[in-house]
Order: sequence, then C-alpha cells, then structure tokens
Amino acid sequence: MMHRVDVLLDEHGYPIHIGPGAMSNQQLFEPHLSGSQVAVISNETVAPLYLDELLKALGETEVDVFTLPDGERHKTLESYSAIMDFLMAKRHNRSTTLVALGGGVVGDITGFVAATFQRGVGLIQVPTTLLAQVDSAVGGKTAVNHPGGKNMIGAFHQPRCVIADSAVFATLPDREYRAGLAEVLKYGVIADAEFFAWMEAAGDGLLNKNPDTLAWAVRRSCEIKAGVVAQDERETGLRAILNFGHTFGHAIETLTNYRRFLHGEAVAIGMVMAADLSARQGCLPLEDAQRIKTVLQSFELPVCPPAELSDDVLHRAMGMDKKVVDGRLRLVLVEAIGQVAVSEEIDASALNATLNAADALCDG
Ligand code: NAD
Ligand code: GLY
Repeated sequence: MMHRVDVLLDEHGYPIHIGPGAMSNQQLFEPHLSGSQVAVISNETVAPLYLDELLKALGETEVDVFTLPDGERHKTLESYSAIMDFLMAKRHNRSTTLVALGGGVVGDITGFVAATFQRGVGLIQVPTTLLAQVDSAVGGKTAVNHPGGKNMIGAFHQPRCVIADSAVFATLPDREYRAGLAEVLKYGVIADAEFFAWMEAAGDGLLNKNPDTLAWAVRRSCEIKAGVVAQDERETGLRAILNFGHTFGHAIETLTNYRRFLHGEAVAIGMVMAADLSARQGCLPLEDAQRIKTVLQSFELPVCPPAELSDDVLHRAMGMDKKVVDGRLRLVLVEAIGQVAVSEEIDASALNATLNAADALCDG
C-alpha cells in the first residue's frame, strides 16, 4: 500500500511517497523534473542494487550518474567538489534536477550540492536506509563534514519530493536497519504515546521487516517530523526536540571516534540517558524511562555508554555540541511518553548521576 505525507511549508512544501515499489513509479517523479537534465548521485553500494530500477522510473529523460565511494568519511568538501566538477563537465544548467539515491550520507552531500549549484537547483530524495527515510531525507538539512566537526558546512534546502521505497530494506544490513529503528522510536517518545505503544507491541513485525508494518512506521515518523519542520523550518526553537537523545549520543560518537557505534546506536544510548536524567529530575516516572529502554533492547540496540567514558569526559564532549547556546547546556527532557521539552534547567547532580550510571543502565 502507498502512503503520502505532505510537508506543509509556506514556500516549497512537498510530498513524501512511501511504500514498496515507489522508486519505480514514474508518475511520482514526473511532476518534479523541471528541465530535460537529471543527475543521479549514488554510491558504489547502492547504485548496483537500485540504479536500474530508478532509471526506468526516470523514463525518457537523459540522466547522468555520479557514483561516490561508500562511507561517512567521504562526506567531505572533496566529494562535493567532485560532484560540482561532474555537473560542470556534463554542462548541467539551472533547471537540472539532482536525485539522491542512497542513505543519509549520499542525501546530505547531494542536498548540499543542490543547495549551491548555480545558487540552488531541484532535488529529489530517494532514501534507501531506514534512518534516511524517517529523518535525513525529510526537512531540508544538508551538509558535509569538516575535519574539525560533523555537518559543519551546510545549508537548508528542501527537496521537491521524497520517494521512500519500503522494498529497499530487503538489502539493508540488519545493523543499519536496527539503528534506524532507534530514530523511529524517537518519534513516539517525542510526540505520540500511541505510536510508542504500537512499536512496543509491533516487536517481531518490525524486526522481520514486514513491509506493511514498515510502511506505517515510516509514514507515522514522517508525519511527526513534517509537523515539527512545518512549525520551525530553520530550527529557531521547536525543531530542537528532534534532537532528543542526540546530545548524549553525539558525545559518545565523538569520544569513540565515530567507529564503534552507528549514529542510531549512539542515539539509542542517548535516549536512555536522556530518559534517565528526566526521571532523576523528577519529570518522568521511572517506569516510563524503563519502557523506553526495554523497547530499544528488544531491537537489540545498545542502551548504556561504554564504561570507560568517565562522567568528566562525557560532560566535556557534551559541551561541544552545537545545541549549546552561550555556554549553557540545553537538553531535550521527557515529561511523559509522547511529550518532551527543551530545557536549560539541568540539575548538575542529576546530570552527574546519569553520566555515572553506565553500570546501572546496562543492567536489566
Ligand atoms: P549511510 O548513508 O552511510 O548508509 C549506511 C550504509 O548502508 C552505507 O554503507 C550505505 O551504502 C548502505 N546502504 C544504504 N542503503 C542500502 C540498501 N538499501 N541496501 C544495502 N545497503 C544500503 O548512513 P545513514 O544512516 O543512512 O545516514 C547517516 C548520515 O545521515 C550521517 O552522515 C548523518 O549526519 C546524516 N543525517 C542527516 C540528517 C539530516 O537531517 N540531514 C539527519 C540524521 C542523519
Ligand atoms: N535530524 C534533526 C533535524 O532534522 O532537525
């Protein structure tokens, strides 16, 4: 079954089409191809799997294809430049449309190229990881990394549409898939207690990648993200709630050199820590913090920080986060499952207790 979610923005709103086979449906692409030129940007892993299918859906259009090497380490200005060189060499003009076929890395780089090539051209996102379908392809954040920090160079540039094909999960490595489930659960925690409870109950349907179960999970996640982005496109306030668990998660990713954990895995740990802190500050019942952890464990995700990361080291790493404003730490705390708030009222002793709770969080 196909689902449609609309991202309602004052200017440049767009549809997200979700369901098995979406990528090969020519009618979904056609309205968003402005000129006669199309460039597909993919990577060496995803292109052999899905490029042919996508090219069929692009019909008679003449398509140039640029294939990136795989991996976060290629999310760089060098890759950005290589794509720019390619578009110049192929004489693409301002009416070209770029199609990003891949996970969040391909989507973020392609998005940044689309934001800046000739001051901005059309972009269609065809996300092929669960994380990209529920998060990175939606909302218009684009970026590449700087050696000094992740996503440090970027722009807001909304796509013309997002085509989220649920059939692509068949080839997605299990670990990548489960990391995406962490982001899906995040939407339940921040905005929808019923969706959270549905995920608690869906268990095997999700782990077995049942296509209908997944199409629904992606749809509900996109509805929630679209609702937040529609209210705060440029992250002046509310949009920060999408970063629930991310301040702890980023600290853990940084301290483990982005090697030990996938982003969604670090976010899973971060969500457990943020819920633990919320409970310690008295705003969330302990049993609700436990529920969040239990679901993440059922997805076989990590739920506690590596024991060797001391509270000092974690605290310092959290201080480096982009969400720190004027030296004050702001965190997304849970008030109830389905409701969160961005808070600067962080109790230092509660935070220290959470940062020291690796053993307790690992247990049970
Ligand atoms: P990724 O793009 O590295 O993809 C993960 C791996 O899966 C890669 O090896 C990729 O080639 C492979 N792959 C992708 N689809 C596949 C498929 N269907 N079958 C088999 N293999 C497949 O990682 P990701 O988790 O999708 O994205 C992470 C990136 O997203 C990070 O760079 C992060 O900063 C960014 N991100 C951006 C936003 C945003 O709002 N723009 C939000 C969250 C994350
Ligand atoms: N991934 C967080 C956001 O899009 O704002």
